[in-house]
Amino acid sequence: MNFELTALPLQDVDAEIEIVIVVANNLKHRFVQDKKLLKKAGFSGGQDESCLLLGEGRLYVGAASVKSAAIRTAAASAIKALKGTKYKSIKIATYTNKGCTYTLRAMVEGFILGSYSFETYKSKKSKNKIKEISISLEEYSALKIDIEKASIQIHKAQIIADATNFTRDIVNTTPDDCYPEVMANIAEGMAEDTGLKCKILKPKALRKEKMETLLAVARASRHTPRVIHLTHKPKNPKCVVTLVGKGLTYDSGGLSLKPADFMVTMKSDKSGGSAVMGIMKAVAELDLPIEVHGFVGAVENMIGGDAYKPDDVLVAKNGKTIEIRNTDAEGRLVLADVLCYAQQEVKSDYLFDFATLTGASVVAVGHYTSSIMGNNKKVQDLVVKEAHNAGELATALDFNPYLKKTIKSEIADICNISNTRYGGAITAGHFLSEFVDKKHSKKWAHIDIAGPAFVEHAWGENPHGASGAGVRMMVKLIENLAKDTKH
Ligand code: BES
Ligand code: ZN
Ligand code: ZN
Repeated sequence: MNFELTALPLQDVDAEIEIVIVVANNLKHRFVQDKKLLKKAGFSGGQDESCLLLGEGRLYVGAASVKSAAIRTAAASAIKALKGTKYKSIKIATYTNKGCTYTLRAMVEGFILGSYSFETYKSKKSKNKIKEISISLEEYSALKIDIEKASIQIHKAQIIADATNFTRDIVNTTPDDCYPEVMANIAEGMAEDTGLKCKILKPKALRKEKMETLLAVARASRHTPRVIHLTHKPKNPKCVVTLVGKGLTYDSGGLSLKPADFMVTMKSDKSGGSAVMGIMKAVAELDLPIEVHGFVGAVENMIGGDAYKPDDVLVAKNGKTIEIRNTDAEGRLVLADVLCYAQQEVKSDYLFDFATLTGASVVAVGHYTSSIMGNNKKVQDLVVKEAHNAGELATALDFNPYLKKTIKSEIADICNISNTRYGGAITAGHFLSEFVDKKHSKKWAHIDIAGPAFVEHAWGENPHGASGAGVRMMVKLIENLAKDTKH
């Protein structure tokens, strides 16, 4: 998809179809030239409602306001409405919130994210896709828009949306095509393309590093585990950020086997690790002045004669002993070791982990929202704020001392599941906090993306399947750390 920014008025721009956004149901705006036809078609301009007037060469789409979130999904709806048509080029005017070019960025993100489809396993690929998008600087409120600023935002949007689609592709790939070794290869390839440093730890190195809980989860799989470490190290970085991702290329549940219906979609249990890879790609391409480290624990949780068991006691990298009572609570075991390894390797100003960690998070906050936990309200709130700014939904779930006690063990330092069936997202967060050292305790946030990472229907700018949850929120956060001087 190519974007061209032009100072020409919209009517002088050449394209097969013009897209008009109807803002706040205002059909009287000068951009709306087909008011009568639209009324006849019953189009009122509701958010994401679209109406294609073939004869006029215009596609109308509704947006509740000119705010980024509304424009983003409107753009995605417009591009979806053109799917299956033969049009290759479109044009659109500029819509900004009082001249702020962030809305332009949201619009471009909407076009790229909305046009995504995963067709690797389809015999017939869709050929006709919109290739050229011309954006005229003619603005909705007749404001003058700086072409330099506008083109910077378009460029950023392309990098961020492409990185989100990169993450979506990894998550959507089937477990037999994307296992730990493949994830490591994808990371290496991406690192070579973007100039990131990439280190891969194979089983021998993992044993040397005493990552015994990660190795135990991996034991019954024919695919050996990998830990990936990607580094973006600019000169004079403003601060250091560490990202850790759960990369379960398949989660069968292990011996505590998942029921059949719950196992379907568990190829998406690598979403946290895939998000970390997407974030690293964007950070490198944007060349942000922040040192960023991305760690991924890539493992497959299977059954077999060599499987780890309920009743086992494992020793994590930091020496803590863990009583296993359910092998399906495997993500926290992998993250425990990778968190310890990441903190040993890098002392950072912020530490974030991303994981499809619990079904309980989906029960608590629904499919579209990530839950954010940690020991520092400010860091939690920062993630929630930047997620919203970037077009993702997130909400803070608070820790409490009573739930913390529910992961106590009679025979080991800690148990891998809670003794209560309630509050499972939070108890999993408490478990992880046992593997965050004192230095990082107030700098850490745990991001449970189990809800939005993979949804079996389209929503907003997201298609069926992988959404790339986590990528936009974290790139935005890191971008803003680059602007902010005090940490
Ligand atoms: N990968 C799952 C969590 C999950 C569930 C992600 C649904 C996305 C959608 C995780 O490893 C898991 O199985 N967690 C268990 C924990 C339980 C055994 C304490 C769960 O959520 O049921
Ligand atoms: Zn599991
Ligand atoms: Zn899992």
